[in-house]
Amino acid sequence: MTASEDALKGRNLLSIAELNADEVELLLRTALSLKRDGGGHDILRNKTLALIFEKPSLRTRVSFDVAMQELGGHAIYLSQAEVGLGQREPVSDVARVLSRYVDVIAARTYSHETLLNLARFADVPVINALSDEEHPCQALADLLTVRERFDSLRGVRLAFVGDGFNVAQSLAEGAALAGMSFAMASPEGYSLPDAVQNMIAETAAANGGRADFYDSAADAVQDADVVYTDVWASMGQEDSYTARKEAFTGYAITADLMALAKPTAIFMHDLPAHRGEEVMEDVIEGPQSVVFDQAENRLHAQKAILALTAGEHAR
Ligand code: CP
Repeated sequence: MTASEDALKGRNLLSIAELNADEVELLLRTALSLKRDGGGHDILRNKTLALIFEKPSLRTRVSFDVAMQELGGHAIYLSQAEVGLGQREPVSDVARVLSRYVDVIAARTYSHETLLNLARFADVPVINALSDEEHPCQALADLLTVRERFDSLRGVRLAFVGDGFNVAQSLAEGAALAGMSFAMASPEGYSLPDAVQNMIAETAAANGGRADFYDSAADAVQDADVVYTDVWASMGQEDSYTARKEAFTGYAITADLMALAKPTAIFMHDLPAHRGEEVMEDVIEGPQSVVFDQAENRLHAQKAILALTAGEHAR
């Protein structure tokens, strides 16, 4: 089965888990097609994207803005200081007001609940630009990057070493839907919640893949095609930085750890990276690193998300 070209039209993208395998495939196929074709499309001609950001961003903000321009539309950036989501006025009012002006909303919020509220009251598609539960735009760019390297996602072994937070959750859900072999290693107390692990393992099995959760980084990385990590303390977790730094000792991606993966393995990081903490300088700057291809693919993946949810016609 393949998803119809308008399967995502008018829909929100709050979580990878709300997609099915065919819809992930449609998003990746569209992203690859748009990437090959370059800019100059009018899929979003006269359309406006509102970018609401409660937290800082480089990649997400710029790639959404450029994506809109390259698809014929434009974006308006709204910081928390300007909008005051839930402070200056209720989230429900912001959603209903913006729906009268714009065609699609992308929001980066501290709480996933805020995003759910936005989506509940908005009449236009709402895209998660990162919450405390999910980072679906990042995961789609990551899957696109892996697919470009290995031609297919099915059976590719991806080892995520690090915190069981938003990036890991969306990536794991995407890998499971794509039939990959997902292996995650985290210190005790920092893995994904048990219910999420079980859901991911079931989804992976249903799609011909698997998901395994370890406390040993070496066990996860052994024979991996992809080694992925993220910062140990994400935005909003700064208060627990010292405790986290101690807990994650031994989970850094070093050249010795990379040597346990396949010789053809690639290194991935969603950026920004803390060199010398979760990844060593020689790994992130080394020949196996694809972190800037990955960053570029944020643009192409988000073009696909915007075109398929808010575009007049799907590709
Ligand atoms: N990876 C990512 O989301 O980067 P930004 O925080 O810079 O948007």
